[in-house]
Amino acid sequence: MASRSTSGPAGGAPASREDVSRAFEDNKLAQVLYHDWEAQTYDDKWSISFDERCIEYARDRFEAVTGTPDPLPYATALELGAGTGFFSLNLKQAGILDEVHVTDLSPGMVEAARANAGKLGFAVEGRVADAERIPYDDNTFDIVVGHAVIHHIPDVEAAFAEMLRVLKPGGRFVVAGEPTRIGDWYARRLGRITWHATRAITALPPLRAQWAKDAEALDESSRAAALEAVVDLHTFDPDELARMALRAGAVDVRTQTEELTAAFLGWPVRTFEAAVKPGALGWGWAMFAYGSWRRLSVVDRVLARAVPARFFYNVGITGVKPG
Ligand SMILES: C[S@@+](CC[C@H](N)C(=O)[O-])C[C@H]1O[C@@H](n2cnc3c(N)ncnc32)[C@H](O)[C@@H]1O
Repeated sequence: MASRSTSGPAGGAPASREDVSRAFEDNKLAQVLYHDWEAQTYDDKWSISFDERCIEYARDRFEAVTGTPDPLPYATALELGAGTGFFSLNLKQAGILDEVHVTDLSPGMVEAARANAGKLGFAVEGRVADAERIPYDDNTFDIVVGHAVIHHIPDVEAAFAEMLRVLKPGGRFVVAGEPTRIGDWYARRLGRITWHATRAITALPPLRAQWAKDAEALDESSRAAALEAVVDLHTFDPDELARMALRAGAVDVRTQTEELTAAFLGWPVRTFEAAVKPGALGWGWAMFAYGSWRRLSVVDRVLARAVPARFFYNVGITGVKPG
């Protein structure tokens, strides 16, 4: 699975033209509209599951950022921008989190996360919540987690301050899967080239019936892509991101970047998936894509010894509340 921080034109988000116009005026409304629309199809779109594949993926992302410095499990955990629950529900299955509270600005996403938790047999609390104003008391949680979320938040430093407020003294925050400035630059270009190449090839008569998206689905994809440009607010330089968390009051702040060659593969793959007819690619394709991504991730860990951190696609950050 590639990171979920940026993307090429997406499939399956039925935004009307009027909605798109309103969303340009109000970013928080744009976030709710876009992610509510995405909620029902999000797990399919990103090949999210709650089996060993995604448990391992979530655990690896968490450990890459933290290096597992604390005793496990964290007793009480809050996830911000939880989406359908990919990160916290899989971290709970991995034995890293115990009691989980899922929150998101989008009511549709909170519903989807609660439904996924229900299918797994977990009793999780779900609330609609803005990460800039978290509706929980001070000193409540042992850990706050997030995945692919802070690049959607207008005031990232305010969100860090809120994470620290709701953490118990000594509690930790872990945010993974955020786009770096340089990574986003090449990911978008790779996505665009793949989108146009796939459209051109699948329009050829022998391939059209099986592979080409119909005109209505393409129109929806274009509107979703327009909104995507509105909801993706930030890309990050790892050192600047660390300084934001320090200014918000965190200590023991550490950033970690991941994915270089894996992103060179991941973005074309992800865009190809969005550009062909829904259902044309099966589970075998998802496993092939994930297996290739994993092999290239191993290469990237070796390259990380020589290539500067800011060239990698993803950045994660962790820090601790003093006390
Ligand atoms: C790219 S999705 C990631 C979802 C999930 N964390 C994952 O990795 O699958 C970003 C999520 O952030 C949520 N979001 C956007 N702005 C937010 C805010 N200000 N506060 C809380 N959540 C927000 C969106 O509704 C969306 O569900």
